Amino acid sequence: MASAREAVAAAADALTAAGCDTPRLDAELLIADAIGLDRAALVTDPSRTLDAAAARLAMERVRRRTRREPVAYILGRRAFRQLDLAVDRRVLIPRPETELLVEVATELAPPGASVHDVGTGSGAVALALAHERPDLTVTASDASASALEVARANANRLGLDVGFEHAPGLSLATEATLDLVVANLPYVREDEWSGLEPEITRWEPRSALLGGADGLEAIRSLAHGAQPGTLVALEHAPGQAAAVRELLRDAGTRTDLSGRPRVTVGHAR
Ligand SMILES: C[S@@+](CC[C@H](N)C(=O)[O-])C[C@H]1O[C@@H](n2cnc3c(N)ncnc32)[C@H](O)[C@@H]1O
Repeated sequence: MASAREAVAAAADALTAAGCDTPRLDAELLIADAIGLDRAALVTDPSRTLDAAAARLAMERVRRRTRREPVAYILGRRAFRQLDLAVDRRVLIPRPETELLVEVATELAPPGASVHDVGTGSGAVALALAHERPDLTVTASDASASALEVARANANRLGLDVGFEHAPGLSLATEATLDLVVANLPYVREDEWSGLEPEITRWEPRSALLGGADGLEAIRSLAHGAQPGTLVALEHAPGQAAAVRELLRDAGTRTDLSGRPRVTVGHAR
């Protein structure tokens, strides 16, 4: 029987050869999960052995990772704020920088407010808001019906009350009663696509990422479509902050943990 230490070393070598950015971390996550441990427990006790079933599972997962499938899809889950979300290829894997959008929304939303998350994907932003601010009425929508299946399943499993709607942009009926609209819509420019990591281009849904020639198609359409005066918080790429501020009135931009302009807040014109 191989020890976890040996299995991690062999897996890290294979993942390095495959061009993965964080081979050791990925190997530890995949092997710990195959044994039924969390990564911290594996790192603390690397002399643990893998039985035959765990070794087979670990090998299969490492093989998937060598094809640059993201760890989150292989494990079927991703941590976001205080939640463990189920994810698969129907949805974008929630990113750490999107936690800022939740933070901004929790600061902006008055007690008892109605908040709507456009382009909810796995439900990450809406579910984190419902979890952290039980006083809010949270609704969410997505243009992708299959993404909404994932979001609804996450809400059910986590016991969180979010009303989901299958729709592009904002429906006027929803908007009439909203205090705040939040959105992490696609914002990758078409000319950036070929330079992105294979984890993104081969595995994540293009419709969750690509925002047309300047990356702002979906964001612009939301800002233009919202009723004048609606308070909106939009995630975007750092280089898009000035253009997004132009779409809104009295707009300001917040920076993420790396100091990059990431979330712009303002009122629809
Ligand atoms: C970048 S992903 C973000 C998913 C999720 N909000 C998150 O932060 O993890 C964008 C999401 O917007 C959805 N989407 C794209 N265009 C849309 C539109 N015009 N209206 C509503 N949803 C849209 C995609 O299907 C995808 O789920």
